[in-house]
Amino acid sequence: MEDSDPSASASLHEVSDPARRQWLQGGLGAALAAAFAPMAAALAGCATAAGGGPKLGFAPVPPSTADTVAVPEGYVADVLAPWGDPVGIAGAMPAFKPDASNSAAEQALQMGMHHDGIHFYPLGDDGRRGLLAMNHEYVDDGLLHTDGIRDWSADKVRKAQAAHGVSVIEVALRDGRWQVVRPSRYARRFTANTPFAVGGPAAGHPMLRTAADPAGRTVLGTINNCASGITPWGTYLSGEENWADYFKGPATPDAHQRRWGLGPDRWVRWSGHDERFDATKHPNEFNRFGWIVEIDPMDPSSTPVKRTALGRAAHEGATVAVTRDGRAVVYSGEDERFEYLYKFVSRDRIAPAGQGFSAAQANRELLDHGTLYVARFDADGSGRWLPLVQGQGPLTAANGFADQGQVLIDARQASDALGATKMDRPEWVAVDARTREVFCALTNNSARGQPGRPGPDAANPRANNVMGQIIRWTDGDGRDGDFDSTTLRWNHLLLAGDPANARAEARGNVRGDIFACPDGLYVDARGVLWIDTDVGAAAMNQGEMARIGNNQMLACDPATGEVRRFLTGPVGCEITGCTITPDGRTMFVNVQHPGETPGDRSDPAAPTRWSTWPDGPGAGRPRSATVAICRRDGGVIGT
Ligand code: FEO
Ligand code: CA
Ligand code: CA
Ligand code: CA
Repeated sequence: MEDSDPSASASLHEVSDPARRQWLQGGLGAALAAAFAPMAAALAGCATAAGGGPKLGFAPVPPSTADTVAVPEGYVADVLAPWGDPVGIAGAMPAFKPDASNSAAEQALQMGMHHDGIHFYPLGDDGRRGLLAMNHEYVDDGLLHTDGIRDWSADKVRKAQAAHGVSVIEVALRDGRWQVVRPSRYARRFTANTPFAVGGPAAGHPMLRTAADPAGRTVLGTINNCASGITPWGTYLSGEENWADYFKGPATPDAHQRRWGLGPDRWVRWSGHDERFDATKHPNEFNRFGWIVEIDPMDPSSTPVKRTALGRAAHEGATVAVTRDGRAVVYSGEDERFEYLYKFVSRDRIAPAGQGFSAAQANRELLDHGTLYVARFDADGSGRWLPLVQGQGPLTAANGFADQGQVLIDARQASDALGATKMDRPEWVAVDARTREVFCALTNNSARGQPGRPGPDAANPRANNVMGQIIRWTDGDGRDGDFDSTTLRWNHLLLAGDPANARAEARGNVRGDIFACPDGLYVDARGVLWIDTDVGAAAMNQGEMARIGNNQMLACDPATGEVRRFLTGPVGCEITGCTITPDGRTMFVNVQHPGETPGDRSDPAAPTRWSTWPDGPGAGRPRSATVAICRRDGGVIGT
């Protein structure tokens, strides 16, 4: 489900020119330096190239259609933690069964499916040990069950729920290879049935109350966890993205349900065996998903929290920046066609750790108080962050926004009322704290300009946009700007595509190696923007994508726009997530759904028809997995 808003909007047409605006250079503020100490430490040891941009020091890899991971000469990529391997909970480490005969209870102790956002949390200072927190976005039921889902059953629903969510694993560099440490006191799974507390203005709201939870303050589970972010206080943020597909709605949904994409026929049919996903019986359960969740991976006994102050959306992820005076700003895209881009500014400053409590504990309510904004990108390169505050502008009780909780639960409707810009599927956001540039991948939108749909505008300039673009901005106007400013200046870093295409809208303006459908973004300590791609299996290597190859990861120097291909993935996969150790010497990247079929659901009679990655010949099933990438000479990645 990528498309829930059929309303039209005004059309502008302007392709933005990355060269026509000056970009402001900002210092790494003291507050940020303190807050992101490991990142700043890595920065101090790295030089940037003359001319202001980071040097891309590797030879690019060519496009590939092979069923393998390829990295540049001098690099090595090792597979780590594939779907189904035990996460390492002491006394509970069931081995993966390649015929998918693990039970639901076993799956709840193993790596979930469809690895996505990921982050490394160092343990100690030597860069050789740490935790990986990662998302498991969704499942391929054709691979998850021995006989697929010709018939749904309660066991299959429970196993699918156990394969969703988030994993925390401990990893260490031993004998030159990254390995999962088992058992580990940190090893943990969060699934579709893990209790989450609810924080922020919508906690306890009548729209979040259900028969099972009359207080509206405890939700079972997180699902469709897509991109991830980290906080300076050491926690993990994860976005609930395509949750609407998991609910069965009435034949005639009401306006609220329609705006959020609820319909009677669902791709995922959990409702027949878990009644809370039947919105005809429990309509408010539907409102309890679509949040950013916060997890403290360092505290295995901590309760994860859904942060309602950040707004409800088909959240891709959440990316944190810090204002000069030490408040947190969280950017988040909503990945559906014609949806929005948000930022949250905390009311309070980030607190330091104290005696006897961690920074995570000191900031356990920081994301519960603040202001949510939605972006409007204007044709002249300026823009506005519009506040989603009840009682301001059109967000009044008379217009259906009774209180702040409802504004947050109905963030889409509130953004409609404010006239925010309807974007081409905002995916990951990445921030360069030194330049104050913020980047967002707008992955594609083939409905742009179709009859009855919004046409191109300045920020989303192409009709039938199958290729996607990366937009960038700085908040504020001039050196006085900061991440909390309510104005912005924007342009396009690039429009993706292939110049060999006949159709102008599919050519793009990439300086360097061609690609399509940017999705994951990550700015490293040197300022390199790493780009992951997500072309769907049905389109991959055909038509206008014929020369682009399998999904891939590229490095971009934002100062020059130069793009170099760094990694190509196996057949049918998406490349997603990126995290680099503080010493800059290991990069972890996720390979999601190798062997994805054009129809998105595998045939259990031929599970390896498209891919045998990573287990190779004799594999029972292709498996999502993390890849740990190092240089053979031990150098810093990308230099
Ligand atoms: Fe889950 Fe928008 O990618
Ligand atoms: Ca994504
Ligand atoms: Ca995507
Ligand atoms: Ca995917």
